Amino acid sequence: ADNTSSPAPIRSSWSGKWGFILAASASAVGLGNMWRFPYLAAKYGGGIFLLVYVVLVVTFGFALMMAETALGRKTGQSAIGAFSTLNKKWKFVGILASIVPFVITPYYALIGGWVTKYMIAYITTPASEIASDGYFTGFILQNPETYFYLIIFLLLTILIVALGVNKGIENVNRVLMPLLILMSIGISIYALTLPGALSGLAFYLIPDFSKFSVELVLGALGQMFYSLSLAMGIMITYGSYFSREHDLEHSVRRIEIFDTSIAMLAGFMIIPASFAALGSGEAVMTHAGPGLMFGVLPTVFNSIGALGPMLGFLFFMLVFFAAMTSCISLFETCTSIIADGFKLSRKTAILASGIFVVAMGIFVNMGYDNLLWMDPMHSLFGLGEYQDFQLLDFFDFISNTILMPIVALLTCIFIGYIVKPQAIIDEVKLSSAFKGEKLFVVMIKYVAPVLLVVILISYTLNTAG
Ligand code: PFF
Repeated sequence: ADNTSSPAPIRSSWSGKWGFILAASASAVGLGNMWRFPYLAAKYGGGIFLLVYVVLVVTFGFALMMAETALGRKTGQSAIGAFSTLNKKWKFVGILASIVPFVITPYYALIGGWVTKYMIAYITTPASEIASDGYFTGFILQNPETYFYLIIFLLLTILIVALGVNKGIENVNRVLMPLLILMSIGISIYALTLPGALSGLAFYLIPDFSKFSVELVLGALGQMFYSLSLAMGIMITYGSYFSREHDLEHSVRRIEIFDTSIAMLAGFMIIPASFAALGSGEAVMTHAGPGLMFGVLPTVFNSIGALGPMLGFLFFMLVFFAAMTSCISLFETCTSIIADGFKLSRKTAILASGIFVVAMGIFVNMGYDNLLWMDPMHSLFGLGEYQDFQLLDFFDFISNTILMPIVALLTCIFIGYIVKPQAIIDEVKLSSAFKGEKLFVVMIKYVAPVLLVVILISYTLNTAG
């Protein structure tokens, strides 16, 4: 999608409702679903995380996505403009939201680089070696090769945005996305036949309420924002391109169902297989981190036999494209924020944000290299231990656990008490009925802000104490 045109009252440019749904889905479905969701679900005890996540998506996620897209359609502007049009004093929320894509893009591309490496490894390296212990850490730690893959991934992203061929990539995705889903289903079914996998299935589906914690809720919340691209201004921009002829609520529901189904599917693929590889729930919970997908899936491909390398290549290629479309949407957003904010031409803005994300990407990667000694999570937040949290986790934490909940809270207060929910409801009703109207009002005015405040405070007290 082109985020850069100047604000107009209604700037619908999607080809109908499905154009919007597909573009928003291409942005939503990415590493958040394939890489991040499964490791969080594994880390936070499986079924209980899944349950909390799904409840959050259909209540809070629904309300916030309705609020953001309607805000965009109402004002015809991206985040900063949308907030300041309705109330000058609240412009800062738009600014705060706009910081998020700049925090995410560099480390997103780093993981995109890991995916690229794995895709290529299946051509050059025996599947058994990729599946061996230590292959992943051997690759990411103190290895110059990682910079190469990071930069390749970023340059491709920047090039696609600069050449304006994003639409073409989205069309490619329209073919590859269904393929990714089919392949994930196939791998999930196969993974369930591995010894020990069924207890992983039970772990993933049956909630163990004793594993419930404030940290889990905050983790699920941050994941929901991340995966649905909420609380970072992006859905405001997407909404600003949405025409008043089409049903906003229906589109929002479709995106949520699609995005959540793919995340759940990734869990089916990775969590039972991680039980097969690691043996027990305890082992899975302690091992679950950013490396889970990269550690577990190769063991699955290795056990398949002769077809393993080809399937491994195909799979990581599909993930590569899903990650690429999301990274394009992230980078496009960074570019339009810079272009609008500093009144720069699109070319200059691409150059400026390009330099920023490359430099920051290199910095994040140094967290696995010469800056391995740094332990920002521990020194700043008293969390974790050396080697378990690196700069990547730090930026992930800043965006998902700090910035996004704060932006979400301020958005709820803004809609609930400054512009009032009725303004959003009226906007939604310009095109259709609003079935979830009551849920929307209750969530935005009461439940979501209270939940956010309680969670943020108790989490702060927990980590401080
Ligand atoms: N929602 C994407 C994912 O789950 O991978 C991440 C993302 C992409 C966030 C694009 C924001 C965005 F603009």
